[in-house]
Amino acid sequence: MRLTLKIWRQENAQAKGAMVTYPIDNISPDMSFLEMMDVLNKELIEKGESPVAFDHDCREGICGMCSMFINGEAHGPDRNVTTCQLHMRKFKDGDTIHIEPFRAKAFPVIRDLVIDRSAFDRIQHAGGFISVNTSGNTQDANAIPISKHAADTAMDAAACIGCGACVATCKNSSAMLFVGAKVSQFALLPQGKVEAADRVQHMVDQMDLEGFGNCTNTGACEVECPKGISLENIARMNRELLKAKLF
Ligand code: SF4
Ligand code: FES
Repeated sequence: MRLTLKIWRQENAQAKGAMVTYPIDNISPDMSFLEMMDVLNKELIEKGESPVAFDHDCREGICGMCSMFINGEAHGPDRNVTTCQLHMRKFKDGDTIHIEPFRAKAFPVIRDLVIDRSAFDRIQHAGGFISVNTSGNTQDANAIPISKHAADTAMDAAACIGCGACVATCKNSSAMLFVGAKVSQFALLPQGKVEAADRVQHMVDQMDLEGFGNCTNTGACEVECPKGISLENIARMNRELLKAKLF
């Protein structure tokens, strides 16, 4: 495949960025999107130019690092996949592909396509955990009855990989799908109920502090989420917050 890449280049957080055009040839349709970026970077390095900085780690849809806005969509044109799982066969020979970082006030650009998502870490630190006794007398989790429906719904929420596509896609830069998933995965299980009220209040407070916008129910986050996290999680978070405030 022969392609034209238009990529956001930005030296550092303070520098003014710009789209730069790179023609690229001999791309196999079986390559992943990141392998295609590797080919480009190899060529740039061989020419003595600076490679395009982009985040990646697992390259199998688990870590949530490979955040790229591709042709105006977080993680590109495929559904329910991350950028590292996106294949070049989703594009046509001769295509022009626009590649940008996820853009949100709370996710400042560090360099090129790399953004700072530590706001998500701080929200997690505010309450995305449970406290358990690990003294050796811990109750066996298998001995705690949990309905199949609650277990399945909690597992679906726990599939969130913290990639930030929901924020990048939302016109309000809202993080409510992410926070809703993190609140839900614990709120549905007995182990998470003990600290549920504190958790939801602290996580929502931190979310607001970080500068994420509010949810106006457009649903774009659910469409672009690579893990199919449902909007129901936002509704559950709102119910949990109301409960915590009232009781
Ligand atoms: S809710 Fe989906 S889009 Fe948002 S951080 Fe989690 S996995 Fe990514
Ligand atoms: S590199 Fe880990 S999800 Fe893409």
